[in-house]
Amino acid sequence: MKKLLGFCFAALFVMACADKQDLDDKTYETEKAQMEEIGNAVASEFMGNLKSELLTAIKKGGPENAISVCSEKAVPLAEMIPEYNNYNIEIKRTTFKNRNPGNAADEFEIEALNHFESLVTKGETNLKPYLQKLEPGVYNYYRPLKIFDMCLNCHGKEELLTEEVKTELYRLYPYDKAKGYESGDFRGVVRVKISKKI
Ligand code: HEC
Repeated sequence: MKKLLGFCFAALFVMACADKQDLDDKTYETEKAQMEEIGNAVASEFMGNLKSELLTAIKKGGPENAISVCSEKAVPLAEMIPEYNNYNIEIKRTTFKNRNPGNAADEFEIEALNHFESLVTKGETNLKPYLQKLEPGVYNYYRPLKIFDMCLNCHGKEELLTEEVKTELYRLYPYDKAKGYESGDFRGVVRVKISKKI
């Protein structure tokens, strides 16, 4: 009888633990889905704004006059994103081949960039967003960025850049690593850091 009682207690204990584990998994899955939704919305808004601002500026005054859009406006545009009420949101663009030293990747971002680079090396072309949990309630969402024709005005091979663009880029970014790309290349990521307000 004693043995049976012991067994029952043990079984109850295991069941209780399994229940808690189940609940933890569910909470985590819900939280992850929420973070993915926010990251996706913010990255889309940010990239949509940036691309249309770039296109308008290039049409108006040529690529040399659009350089300030990708530099000066990139940050204020990020600040314009309407905040999700209960979250703090920070946007950054980062890559292994950065133009602005201020956009260099930190250790978490390096891990995400390596994740994408290894998929690219394997020939994967359909890159999906990537999510990292940094600590409870704090996540990094990554949207991979590819180069397309419009980007080549300022990130393409030297011979494709106008003299004005080359001169201006050299003046502003003497340590520029963000040239020489071709259409379809993986360029880097938009990183959206999302943390729950306490
Ligand atoms: C008119 C020139 C111009 C065009 C067109 C342009 N960029 Fe840029 N890009 C820049 C400049 C200048 C910077 C440096 C911004 C800064 O100082 O933060 C930059 C920075 C970046 C960065 C941040 C990382 C880094 O290298 O510092 C990413 C990512 C990026 N560009 C991607 C793109 C993509 C993708 C496109 C095409 C959709 C594009 N850019 C089109 C000029 C341009």
